[in-house]
Amino acid sequence: MEDKVLEVKNLTTVFSGKTGTVTAVDGISFSIDRGSCLCIVGESGCGKSVTALSILRLIPRNSGEIAGGEILFDGKNLLKMSPDEIRKIRGNRISMIFQDSMTGLNPVMTVGKQVVEAIRIHDKDITKEEAAEKAVKILSDVGIPSPELRMKEYPHQLSGGMRQRVMIAMALSAGHNELLIADEPTTALDVTIQAQILSLMRKLKEEKGSSIMMITHDMGVVAEMADYVLVMYAGKEMEYADVSSLFSNPLHPYTDGLLKSIPRLSQSSDEELYTIHGNVPDLSHMPAGCRFSTRCPYAKGKCFETEPPFFSVEGHHVRCWKYEEAEK
Ligand SMILES: Nc1ncnc2c1ncn2[C@@H]1O[C@H](COP(=O)(O)OP(=O)(O)OP(=O)(O)O)[C@@H](O)[C@H]1O
Ligand code: SF4
Ligand SMILES: [Mg+2]
Repeated sequence: MEDKVLEVKNLTTVFSGKTGTVTAVDGISFSIDRGSCLCIVGESGCGKSVTALSILRLIPRNSGEIAGGEILFDGKNLLKMSPDEIRKIRGNRISMIFQDSMTGLNPVMTVGKQVVEAIRIHDKDITKEEAAEKAVKILSDVGIPSPELRMKEYPHQLSGGMRQRVMIAMALSAGHNELLIADEPTTALDVTIQAQILSLMRKLKEEKGSSIMMITHDMGVVAEMADYVLVMYAGKEMEYADVSSLFSNPLHPYTDGLLKSIPRLSQSSDEELYTIHGNVPDLSHMPAGCRFSTRCPYAKGKCFETEPPFFSVEGHHVRCWKYEEAEK
């Protein structure tokens, strides 16, 4: 068994449309240590979901494709596997909670049947009746009231937040999954349910040794869940560090801006919230040089000409020319 459950190397995913080709994920590399949680953060449209969908080879064929790179899961390249092999891995060794709650559920199958099936994939000896009992327990654990009744319903009969919880229940029912990919799993949920679900995920990690890749824009969730954090901007990784070091000492100007934008309780109501000026560049018209240069308060000379590589500084990997000299 490899120490790294997942290693993504130089992954590039492109979409083609009427207006041309966009590179949604532009040669990113990162890895996840077995038993740890990596949180991926970054503004809307920076390629977080596309990264997750690429790992499971779920990029819609009519519009996009993985144009290059390697995705090693337990040392084996998922991009080289046959559709049959990848299907066996999905939902069995890797589970995913999708950002869009309709994507992960079968619209023509009752919720109960889907959860029971997810349980039986992982436990071949369990009877249907035992699996149904377990399904009721898991659905109630994720905060679904009257789970017995809900099990008889179809996904469209549930609210978005309920469907999200069903998807989480299905992912959690696969108790010994090696990797759980969760794309904004708790965004649609209220805070008490969110806390319950995060605690279930932590249990999964601590008790079963599962690894988690969690996409979120909520820095509170990052602080609670992450061991490591990957900050993405316009299809590329900008900074990678362990969570406490990233919060206490953000190196990349973009990470710094993201952290400064979090409202603080101590902030007075007339104090203006910090915002990163400007907008994310259009993916089909990326600036030359550093892609954050159009918004960066430190941008100068070289920043506008050459894209910075990753520099290793104080245990962080940071894609910024400011650290060229500091690299040891
Ligand atoms: N099916 C698709 N067809 C064409 N373009 C797509 C498709 N899916 C994603 N994209 C483009 O890829 C880019 C990255 O999208 P992605 O969904 O990964 O963003 P994200 O970081 O998950 O954002 P959010 O925080 O809003 O969920 C966007 O510019 C988006 O328009
Ligand atoms: S490389 Fe330059 S523009 Fe880019 S983040 Fe660093 S200082 Fe800012
Ligand atoms: Mg997304």
